[in-house]
Amino acid sequence: MATSDFAKLPGFRDFPPEDFALRSHIQNSWRRVSRRYGFSEYDGPPLESLDLYVEKSGEEIVGQLYHFVDRGDREVALRPEMTPSLARILGDRSRGMSKPIRWFSMPQLFRYERQQRGRLREHFQWNVDIVGEGGVAADAEVVAVAIDGLRELGLGSADFAARVSDRRLLNALLRAVGVADDRMAAAFGVIDKIERIPDEKSAELLRADVGLDGAQIAMLRDVLGNTDLTALSEKFGDDEAVSSAVDRLREYVGMLSAMGLGDFVEIDLKIVRGLAYYTGIVFELFDRQGELRAICGGGRYDRLLELVGGEPLPAVGFGMGDVVLGELLDERGLVPEHAPELDYFMVPVTEAQRPETLRIAHVLRDRGHSVAYALRDQGVAKQMKAATREGAKTVLLLGPDELERGCIVARDMSTGQEVDVSLSELT
Ligand code: HAM
Repeated sequence: MATSDFAKLPGFRDFPPEDFALRSHIQNSWRRVSRRYGFSEYDGPPLESLDLYVEKSGEEIVGQLYHFVDRGDREVALRPEMTPSLARILGDRSRGMSKPIRWFSMPQLFRYERQQRGRLREHFQWNVDIVGEGGVAADAEVVAVAIDGLRELGLGSADFAARVSDRRLLNALLRAVGVADDRMAAAFGVIDKIERIPDEKSAELLRADVGLDGAQIAMLRDVLGNTDLTALSEKFGDDEAVSSAVDRLREYVGMLSAMGLGDFVEIDLKIVRGLAYYTGIVFELFDRQGELRAICGGGRYDRLLELVGGEPLPAVGFGMGDVVLGELLDERGLVPEHAPELDYFMVPVTEAQRPETLRIAHVLRDRGHSVAYALRDQGVAKQMKAATREGAKTVLLLGPDELERGCIVARDMSTGQEVDVSLSELT
């Protein structure tokens, strides 16, 4: 059988060490930032009942599910997102827990997407959620975590921004434009894509699916172009739903400015989010050049926990994928150089020194040092080459004469300097 018969599936990645290094770099940063904000890590199973996603996640994700019937005749799906699992897990246990609950996770997720730049069929996604707090401070807190997750990796306000909107505000504005209540979901669907499709195409959809005429479409485009909260409240301030949503967004932006993160935040009413369960402030993080897909998306979802059968708790959170982020780090030269690293490489001069090599190596490993050596009899020159290849900081040479004197030779691989080290000192 040819090796190509076992080719990797499209949209899936291998992680040889040089690629795994970037994945760890990203995940270590995510974990550090989560802990800095007082979040605890959790996980769930990669396989869930299909029901968990149908209706709750929305059409787009359901169309992308990897699902099948298992041997026990259960309809199951690989998790395409973490939020329904979080709702399910908390549904069973949140009653006894003190609120707010601050949890984070870094699951691998699976979506049968058309493979394109920034979108694969599996990705790792940092999920950060606050459950049990309905106030706007929780919304500001989670977006601050997302922003700091990127700052931790070396990105700044010139590289990315959080584009923020509020579904309640958009609802009120769409109503003012003339969108009927039963067409609201269709309108959100078109707005979600509006930047990615040509104007004629979005106009056609707004006519056919949302029932708007030419004047209403022009008005809608004008509303969506608003990035200024003051202008919005001047135009639509009489509408109670608009003014309370605008006040909430002002408070939100004020909190982020107080944290020193004001430069990262923009109001953008075209952000609606593709998932069905959001109920309030929503946001996405994008690269400033506008070349890449969203790096991160999230928002408030106050009804999902109840829908999954748990305690009715308000919730807010986000998911940040590793794929677009990896591309952005690469473009900005922020991917750390991958080089193997080893504290010690041990070089027995002959096989007679192998037992002593093993003994010393083990003492050093017990102390937490990284140590390697050739696994077969080799000349010193060959072993030295291996030491360089493996990134050893120090080579320990074990020769018969030195061992006789109770010492070994330590060579500093950056300076080439050699010193005798006594065995008692070393072990
Ligand atoms: P989402 O917008 O579907 O939200 O995904 C969040 C992020 O995951 C995206 O911005 C993107 O970076 C990454 N992502 C999604 N699909 C793919 C893919 N096929 N390939 C690569 N990266 C991808 C959610 O999943 C929500 N559950 C997030 C959330 C958590 N909301 C509240 N809490």
